[in-house]
Amino acid sequence: MQSWPLPFWIAHRGAGKLAPENTLAAFRLGAAHGYRAFECDVKLSSDGQPFLLHDDKLNRTTSGRGPAGALSWHELSRLDAGSWHSRAHAGEQIPSLETVAAFCRRNGYGLNLELKPNPGQEEETGRVVALAVRALWAGDARPPLLSSFKPAAVAAAQAAAPELPRGLLLDSLRASWRDEAKSLQCIAVITNYALMDRQMVEAIHGLGMKALVYTVNDESVAKWLIANGLDGIITDAVDKFSPV
Ligand code: G3P
Ligand code: MG
Repeated sequence: MQSWPLPFWIAHRGAGKLAPENTLAAFRLGAAHGYRAFECDVKLSSDGQPFLLHDDKLNRTTSGRGPAGALSWHELSRLDAGSWHSRAHAGEQIPSLETVAAFCRRNGYGLNLELKPNPGQEEETGRVVALAVRALWAGDARPPLLSSFKPAAVAAAQAAAPELPRGLLLDSLRASWRDEAKSLQCIAVITNYALMDRQMVEAIHGLGMKALVYTVNDESVAKWLIANGLDGIITDAVDKFSPV
């Protein structure tokens, strides 16, 4: 039985925009603001190592250029993933999933791992990340929630490690979302906050799943969603919303 692994407040990409996204510096900053759970994006290097990065390309958030999946983990690990953000973070490295697992387990932090496959690698990413999570969180009562906008990635994770908790991410409402979430045996549906209202919360709860949203940075929006029975918020505004 999959148990719910996350507190209500989840820091987006580590600490939103206050530190370089998807780095340990971001996780540390989120933690300094009281956050005990983090969302981050995971994809595969050319030699199959899971690492954190949001974009398909390296250009925006690292010193590298071109498709993220074209470099080996050794090459990726030498890039600067902090200078683009600020001088204070120069030299910050791209973290491997292994490093993130050790950091989260050491500190007791919850994790929402968004499967963000390189184009065409949906199934491979779901399978490889699920098997890595199984090994890296072995014996842990709160393994990461694996989520994705790509049902094929979630399905591959389900096939590889069915015991891990899964979530379906929705950026728009398609007619098949209920059937997809059921067939993937998700324990959460995570939507763009603009799609969430009381009716949607009730529809998700009706499936026996948790209802979460991304990325809420506005206080009045957060209050309204909480009043409508929401189970969790992913936010950039770690300096505004205190989870404690
Ligand atoms: O996991 C929810 C959220 O992170 C999805 O959007 O583009 O920030 O990864 P994005
Ligand atoms: Mg994400």
